[in-house]
Amino acid sequence: MDHRYIRLACCLATIAGFVALGVLACAPAEPAFEPEIPEVPDLPLGLDASMMQIPEDNPITPEKVALGWQLFYDGRLSLDGTISCASCHQAAHAFGDPEQFSTGVDKNFGNRNAMPITNSAFHAAQFWDGRTPTLEEQALGPVENTVEMANRLDNMIATLSEIPGYRQQFLTVFGSEEITGENVGKAIATFERVIQSGNSPWDRYIAGDTTAVSEAAIRGQELHMGKAGCSQCHLGVNFTDAPFGLYHNIGVGMDAEEPDLGRFVVTGEEADRGAFKTPSLRDVALTAPYMHDGSQATLEEVIEFYDVGGHPNEWLDPKISVLELTKEEEADLIAFMESLTGEVPSWSKRAPALPPSPEEGQ
Ligand code: HEC
Ligand code: HEC
Repeated sequence: MDHRYIRLACCLATIAGFVALGVLACAPAEPAFEPEIPEVPDLPLGLDASMMQIPEDNPITPEKVALGWQLFYDGRLSLDGTISCASCHQAAHAFGDPEQFSTGVDKNFGNRNAMPITNSAFHAAQFWDGRTPTLEEQALGPVENTVEMANRLDNMIATLSEIPGYRQQFLTVFGSEEITGENVGKAIATFERVIQSGNSPWDRYIAGDTTAVSEAAIRGQELHMGKAGCSQCHLGVNFTDAPFGLYHNIGVGMDAEEPDLGRFVVTGEEADRGAFKTPSLRDVALTAPYMHDGSQATLEEVIEFYDVGGHPNEWLDPKISVLELTKEEEADLIAFMESLTGEVPSWSKRAPALPPSPEEGQ
């Protein structure tokens, strides 16, 4: 072949090469990740905004709720990518765990039942023993807990920092692309704060809808406030005295060889031996099994436990005594508790679309 043609062919090939490169370079980037921004609900019927614990430096914004929603459902926060907050805090169970003890990374499990996190905005302290004051601080605990997500904070931050869709959202929400543990905690806490459960049949009854609950539930509420004495501890808008910083020993697990000493481990105060935070009774019909150790399977079992005066021990709270309820009274108390099943924002019950990892094409 003529040399000129070869040169021309080479030239054309080179030009074609450059054009191809140029096209590649100028090709529009993958579309940026579009987070789903949920509608932040108004406070539901029955709750009281003045009781909400919202730190001044972490106001609720829709974009922050969206980010926390993704992080809550994202297994990439755990060591092996398999366990998210939602693995143990399951929406169908008021964000609690139907298993007695939750299974974490490597099928490890702890000795306490995962509590529901609905209405945790109303808690003055987190966990069964109240060892962590704020939701912001709490959110990072499970990440490093060996029986939960078994990760290291710096490792989690490195993983999240590789995900462009997260960097972009941290920039929008916190004004910096740099992902910090503090901001991860703030985002997750904000999501948790808006999962509020209210507008239950009982709330509607109190608001004037006389058909919202059964006669049994109404009798049950009278027992709750009176003969059964439940409202000595399960009181206020969230049916718990936890906001007042109180903990009680009602005897659960005190017959074990080495009982879980609960609040005592935090304070070292003798009176706190075997004392735990009073759980809310909202949504309680959805959160079996019950108690810090998940040792009671049904509400019937719980009532029978209270009926005989809890489990006697040296530190038993004086507000616990033998009740001698009739079968009908027991059923009425349960009907009242069942009328406290409320509604949470429907979007919070499903996982949102998550920003893809780099290897998934971004
Ligand atoms: C392996 C299961 C598991 C995973 C994963 C998990 N948790 Fe928990 N969570 C628990 C258990 C068990 C408790 C109770 C522990 C205790 O009181 O000592 C708890 C307690 C809590 C509480 C306290 C609620 C209250 O009423 O005091 C909050 C809030 C919470 N978890 C949020 C989270 C968040 C946020 C994540 C993800 C970053 C997460 N959890 C991951 C099992 C889990
Ligand atoms: C002295 C305070 C006190 C009184 C009175 C009391 N409770 Fe409780 N309640 C608690 C505490 C504390 C726990 C958690 C104990 C534990 O896990 O060790 C609890 C747990 C429960 C639970 C389990 C909730 C869950 O999510 O695991 C139910 C249900 C319950 N109580 C209902 C009642 C009823 C009904 C009455 C009245 C018959 C009553 N309580 C009286 C303090 C009290």
